[in-house]
Amino acid sequence: MEMLAIAGKEHDESRQGETLKPFENDPNQYRKRFYIESYGCAMNFADSEVVASILNHEGFGATRLAEEADLILVNTCSIREKAEQTVRKRLHEFRKLKEKRKGILIGVLGCMAERLKSQLLEEEKLVDIVVGPDAYRSLPSLISEAETGQKAVNVLLSREETYADISPIRIDSNGINAFVSIMRGCNNMCSFCVVPFTRGRERSRDAVSIVAESQDLFNKGYKEITLLGQNVDSYYWIDEAKDETITFARLLEKVALISPDLRVRFSTSHPKDITDEVLYTIAKYENICNYIHLPVQSGSTRMLQLMNRTYTREWYKAKVDRIREIIPDCGISSDIIAGFCTETEKDHQDTLSIMEYGRFDMSYMYFYSERPGTLAARRYTDDIPETVKKRRLQEIVDLQGILSHQSNQLDLGKTFKVLIEGNSKKSDAQWYGRNSQNKVIVFPKGNHPYKPADYVMVKVVDCTKATLVGEIVDNLAI
Ligand code: SAH
Ligand code: SF4
Ligand code: F3S
Repeated sequence: MEMLAIAGKEHDESRQGETLKPFENDPNQYRKRFYIESYGCAMNFADSEVVASILNHEGFGATRLAEEADLILVNTCSIREKAEQTVRKRLHEFRKLKEKRKGILIGVLGCMAERLKSQLLEEEKLVDIVVGPDAYRSLPSLISEAETGQKAVNVLLSREETYADISPIRIDSNGINAFVSIMRGCNNMCSFCVVPFTRGRERSRDAVSIVAESQDLFNKGYKEITLLGQNVDSYYWIDEAKDETITFARLLEKVALISPDLRVRFSTSHPKDITDEVLYTIAKYENICNYIHLPVQSGSTRMLQLMNRTYTREWYKAKVDRIREIIPDCGISSDIIAGFCTETEKDHQDTLSIMEYGRFDMSYMYFYSERPGTLAARRYTDDIPETVKKRRLQEIVDLQGILSHQSNQLDLGKTFKVLIEGNSKKSDAQWYGRNSQNKVIVFPKGNHPYKPADYVMVKVVDCTKATLVGEIVDNLAI
């Protein structure tokens, strides 16, 4: 289950195109079957689980074979042009499938649906149904409309919808890690980013339902929960029954208190919003993982201003210092964009040097891709030639490789508590798991009776830049 081992990180290309496992229930009980494919960030994967739940209530069973589905859904991403191209290609393939099996319906969900609205349906005639991220409750009626040949589109964004009451159906789950959505939308307006347009205004989900969903997952045997939002630190909910204000730190604490055996992770933090209160809460609870994904985007204050990130290079460095002060062994990862509008070699060098300063364990790295409608598209010229963007990106990727390797080498000889998630990719004789810092660690099973979902103490004996290699330290086992 390597692919789920990266649960909680956004935008890992390897997560793209995951499909549903057929439900174990008797397939004959379902009126119709649906197939869903998800692209983009963890939020989209979590949304697909909400959609699966809504469809299940309508009598739809899941299939992992598009060829046998009555309804094919693609949950899409608009973050970069390439993400949209990948989806378009897939939609064309599904269109061909429909030529052979006329009765089937094809629907596009998620951010591309929101961004392009009825274009994919009316002009390009690629799909039958278009549903934006806040309109999934209307899927059943849209399906009925499409079945009678009408145009079925709902891309209304909402200020309230959080799907709080819908119990997601876990798809392609290993029964160990799960995403729990805590908020939707984003109010930040980073100038390069399409998310505020595709996901709408930020709103927080009822804390009571978040804790209840997490508790339910724990009761079912899940051991790790990742709380999801585009900007988790601005989570804010007032529990009127108890007259209690719940900040993100409080929410983290409530979920952590479910059980010391339930690991809690979260994504994504914005450097301008992460508070000391959150850092102290992480430090206080052993089961809140010592790992923060803190996207820097650029190391140049001038670029950060153009990006509308609202922090400076110095502010970011001070945040890293604060994290290391309060949580000395905290893992830190980042997102980085190469070649944003007007970026000079000096700005680029500033990015490389802030990566070294942050000693990032891992980064998601991209070159800038202009998105229609964003602040940057309207105000600035996408003036860095593609060859330069790619060369700078390669330098960033190369440096990250060195930093990841160095960070792993510092772990040699250390012993970590590891959550076993399954067999390692390379060998069934080895387990695969992660430590609190979110580092992947593989180790021989030996004669120990451990199984997936167990915690085990593992000593690091070797490493590559991507993986720690360890051995079980049994006398410390818990
Ligand atoms: N909410 C998260 C990230 C959401 S998008 C945050 O604020 O950190 C994930 C990442 O995609 C961003 O952090 C950014 O690095 C990258 N990204 C967003 N828009 C992009 C664009 N137009 N071109 C290239 N990368 C982009
Ligand atoms: Fe996009 Fe910025 Fe919001 Fe992240 S914080 S989703 S990068 S606008
Ligand atoms: Fe996520 Fe892509 Fe939308 S990153 S919020 S699915 S644009």
